[in-house]
Amino acid sequence: MEIYYGADYYPEHWPEERWEEDARLMQEMGLNVVRMAEFSWTKMEPRMGEFHFEWLEQAINLLAEHGIKTVLGTPTATPPAWIVEQNPEIFPVDSHGIRRGFGGRHHDCQSNITYRAHIRRFVTAMAEYFKDNKHVIGWQIDNEFGNSHGDLCMCPSCTASFQAWLKQKYGDIDTLNREWGNCFWSQDYGKFEQIPSPKLTVTGQNPSAMLDWKRFCSDLIVEFQQFQIDIIRNICPDKFITHNFMGFADKVNYFDLAKNLDFISHDQYPGLFLAQPPKQPEDFLSASLDLMRGTKGKSFWIMEQQAGITGWEFMGRSPKPGQLSMWAMHSIAHGADAVVFFRWRTCTVGTEQYWHGILPHSGNPGRRYEELKSLIHKTQPLMKALQGSIPHSEVGIVFSYDQEYAFRIQPHHPDFDYVQHLMRYYNAFYQKNIPIDFLADTGDFSKYKLLIAPLQYLMNPELEVKYKEYVKNGGNLVLTMRTGVKNMNNVCMSDCELPGGLSELTGLEVLDYDCLRNTNILVDWDGQTFTAEKWSDIINVTTADVLARYESEYYASAPAVTVNTYGHGKAYYVASEPTDEMAAYFADVLHKGLNLLSFGETPSGVEITHRKQGNHTYIFVINHNDTEQTVSIPDDWKPVFDGQGDSLSPFGVDVYKV
Ligand code: GAL
Ligand code: ZN
Repeated sequence: MEIYYGADYYPEHWPEERWEEDARLMQEMGLNVVRMAEFSWTKMEPRMGEFHFEWLEQAINLLAEHGIKTVLGTPTATPPAWIVEQNPEIFPVDSHGIRRGFGGRHHDCQSNITYRAHIRRFVTAMAEYFKDNKHVIGWQIDNEFGNSHGDLCMCPSCTASFQAWLKQKYGDIDTLNREWGNCFWSQDYGKFEQIPSPKLTVTGQNPSAMLDWKRFCSDLIVEFQQFQIDIIRNICPDKFITHNFMGFADKVNYFDLAKNLDFISHDQYPGLFLAQPPKQPEDFLSASLDLMRGTKGKSFWIMEQQAGITGWEFMGRSPKPGQLSMWAMHSIAHGADAVVFFRWRTCTVGTEQYWHGILPHSGNPGRRYEELKSLIHKTQPLMKALQGSIPHSEVGIVFSYDQEYAFRIQPHHPDFDYVQHLMRYYNAFYQKNIPIDFLADTGDFSKYKLLIAPLQYLMNPELEVKYKEYVKNGGNLVLTMRTGVKNMNNVCMSDCELPGGLSELTGLEVLDYDCLRNTNILVDWDGQTFTAEKWSDIINVTTADVLARYESEYYASAPAVTVNTYGHGKAYYVASEPTDEMAAYFADVLHKGLNLLSFGETPSGVEITHRKQGNHTYIFVINHNDTEQTVSIPDDWKPVFDGQGDSLSPFGVDVYKV
């Protein structure tokens, strides 16, 4: 199966007479896959049990005549009006206790058993209908789990499911009371049935309850997806199953969601739509792709790649000539095996009238079509060569949904953000073109020369041992502020000084701390002054060496960055949130000390990344700027395309093979 480029296609939005022309234009452009039907429930089942799959089959077959395969989406993000009319309890309930209504999408409660019955009926019928259609190569379950689901759903069914989840976890109510610390404010429960979903309360709520709620919501989505995977795998065992993720969105733990998918897909919209600045920063976009690759540690698909101006009520900037191609190549450079553009043609109706596709409203091929067409024709052989390859990274960053949830519940500092904190470290290595992976704390640490594990706030003895073993065996570990503060139930540890069981590994104790409200702190590192932000751990070293010290506050001269030798490795500790400059200096120290693989210095907005395929390395030099840039290319990098050299055109992407 050689699928490299495609489009998200909605034939139901257009007269049938147009389909042939669409297919012809797609083929001419070099697309050979479409994703369809993920929102088309009413068109496929206008009334209970009355299935109409012929129109879709016709579209699939017509596209197939033009060499285009199909990925089918299950339309379970859009329960039809006739379902919710009969069963309004399917509408989700928000934290105000208000039932959301019909007229948008994602108006579904994922635990509702009536809705599950509708899904079973519908998805079974759909899978049965298409199981022998050889043009259908795979399935996408639902669409972007967690999108628009913010604080949903707190209905009676979800509350009961939460209670059952808690019972499963804690066994009896006394254990739950103890683990959650319900003696505080008389929150003891007499039975699981008394436990609410965290609807609006008069004051802030118990952080242990909140953390379990977030975990429950994630588990519910994973189980909701599994419910559909089971139906489809059973009927169509020969087709792949995927889901379209959303980078750093955190409603669901993506490591868990990825587990039973054949591969993951991701939706990449660099331009956003409330775009200020007019696009997301390059380092963040790159990190999103690296996290997506990290969820399974393998290459992935882009199921929606920006193809024009983004917009609902407001619109983003128009992508400039070359920018869409650069963004597509950027996704590929970070591990995408296929890029499906969202959407084929700009819609004339509905909420997304201004979320522009490859074709404009008129349907006549224009600038975007021509640009992407030449990209596709040029890069098809490269895509073939890249399939399944990923970068080889010596640096890993531990990403943890548990830690993120805990910091969302209690950010400490009003400006604190888990992902932005991790980005300080990511950015420092990214700027030096040092390849980086994200991995879960359950992942294989031993692959990495350097492991950065920021904010290991919730800690358990197994993870402590895992970190110690990693360092003992020669690993280099960076731990940071707020490590080892709480147990996994979000309760503060009290049996020893922070960072608790990691004190021996880091060679220090944190005896005091300071939340830097409305102020920063100065740090002296090798005679240079840096700024750090939001937090200071005030450290007492036992066996660690001090690398940097605070320069201000009552704890001036206390350690700000330390390193401790432990077994064959080293454990670093960073006691505050480094600014970009300080993180860059730290990355320099680590880069030189550990001799990390880097693709060298590049001008700002130019990144170099790679994918390794057997003995070959494909190197991508990507210019995110709208101006020409110069990068000196080593002699042994063989250009993949004609006309490549040291000068890089605006939004240019050059590829080399070594
Ligand atoms: C994605 C979603 C698509 C479409 C697109 C533009 O989040 O998966 O269905 O809505 O955004 O808004
Ligand atoms: Zn619900």
